[in-house]
Amino acid sequence: MTAILNAPATASSDVERLIARYDGRLPRYTSYPTAPNFTPAVGASVYAGWLSQLSADAPLSLYLHVPFCDRLCLYCGCNTSVVRLEASHRNYTALLLSEIDHVAEVIGRRPAVSHVHWGGGTPTSLPGDCLIAVMDRLKQRFAFARDAEVAIEIDPTSLPDDRREALGPMGVTRISLGVQDLEPSVQRAIGRMQSYEETATCALAARALGVGSLNLDLIYGLPLQTEEGVARTARRALDLEADRVAVFGYAHVPWMKRHQALIPEEQLPGPTERYAQLNAIHRVLTEEGGYVPVGLDHYALPSDAMAKAAAARRLKRSFQGYTTDAAPALIGFGASSIGSLPQGYVQNAPTAAAYAKEIEAGRLATVRGVALTADDRLRRDVIERVMCDLEVDVEAVAAEHVADPAPLAQAAQGLQKFIEDGLASWDGRRIAVSERGRPFVRSVAALFDAHLAEAGDKPRHSRAV
Ligand SMILES: C[S@@+](CC[C@H](N)C(=O)[O-])C[C@H]1O[C@@H](n2cnc3c(N)ncnc32)[C@H](O)[C@@H]1O
Ligand code: SF4
Repeated sequence: MTAILNAPATASSDVERLIARYDGRLPRYTSYPTAPNFTPAVGASVYAGWLSQLSADAPLSLYLHVPFCDRLCLYCGCNTSVVRLEASHRNYTALLLSEIDHVAEVIGRRPAVSHVHWGGGTPTSLPGDCLIAVMDRLKQRFAFARDAEVAIEIDPTSLPDDRREALGPMGVTRISLGVQDLEPSVQRAIGRMQSYEETATCALAARALGVGSLNLDLIYGLPLQTEEGVARTARRALDLEADRVAVFGYAHVPWMKRHQALIPEEQLPGPTERYAQLNAIHRVLTEEGGYVPVGLDHYALPSDAMAKAAAARRLKRSFQGYTTDAAPALIGFGASSIGSLPQGYVQNAPTAAAYAKEIEAGRLATVRGVALTADDRLRRDVIERVMCDLEVDVEAVAAEHVADPAPLAQAAQGLQKFIEDGLASWDGRRIAVSERGRPFVRSVAALFDAHLAEAGDKPRHSRAV
């Protein structure tokens, strides 16, 4: 695979020009319409109606959000806060159990489940017995497929014995370790000291407990990061023998995440350096590690299910990013969690306190969402295929939706500049994003986003590259 910057046409002046042209602030398209389009028009009663209409034969995917951490990393963009009190963790567990019971009662049967994802924050903030109790309740209320995947995000610097020992009884099949960067200067700048040994110990312990699959998260664009430094981190990450590596561009959004303002902006690499860092990681992972790039920001070993799903054009995009899970509905539990149902999207109350208020009152915690129109469904499919496959046959998608392809073809007119820059091609029905265009795939997807213009100039999203 040719590294992006190694392509002859990509000299540094060319990179600067591309970035100036395409590095807008854009959604990551983990849904369409995206979360800023959710409104209170979709609340608990609409959600209850949607749940009761779920098809009996389709499996469900479940997401549990734990909005707690032991510490706050300065770069963090997740929905979390520092909560160390065990009483609060136990109280939150009780709320999750109530919510699971409530949702299962509204569904009115014991639906099949193919996939569970614990995210955060740091899910292992909850004591081991609480994690097991929630999984047990899920298994009581839902019929788990024999090969159901159970994934959990773990901060390697804080995995006490009881949490680690809970991974087996919980039936965890995949762990995702936050690594970010292994250079001490960068770790000091982001307030997250984490040795390679801590990370390796955590990976080994999980493997010893029978967890079959390992994912690592790396970030580029962090303060004080350099091209050489991120390449060193990526090289050390290879030794951990992960099945998948997610490589995120640091999203600096201090107007939304106030603690990020503690990062001095002058320490942040500029767009051209970010691009060079992404490329340096890309080179190490693909050329030295044998990983294949998947979509915008993932790398997987060719033997891994994600690489296979991508090759077979079966990859999906969900709130957790890329997934092999094809379940047509995702049920979210916990504060701020987002659910995706055939009728539309729903989101729970954003803070732990607001979530507790709803659950304690015996209500579903949904506070906002969006019902999908026929046009949303059509555009969502086009955007998902672009984000997952880097190509899409817009006429075929329109035909599946029994829709007029003309508005899609009209939107594709915006591809002209991408074509001139060698980032994409368009033959009148099929769009293909080139390898050089991969970092800009969000900009291609955005051509089909009918809601983006409505958002105006408010800086709500992170950089595209
Ligand atoms: C919920 S955290 C992972 C679990 C655990 N809390 C940890 O930090 O190790 C999910 C991932 O989001 C990524 N992330 C967090 N804030 C980010 C930001 N501002 N920009 C880009 N990626 C970010 C990090 O790679 C992090 O590992
Ligand atoms: S990066 Fe992970 S550990 Fe750090 S504050 Fe965010 S969720 Fe918590």
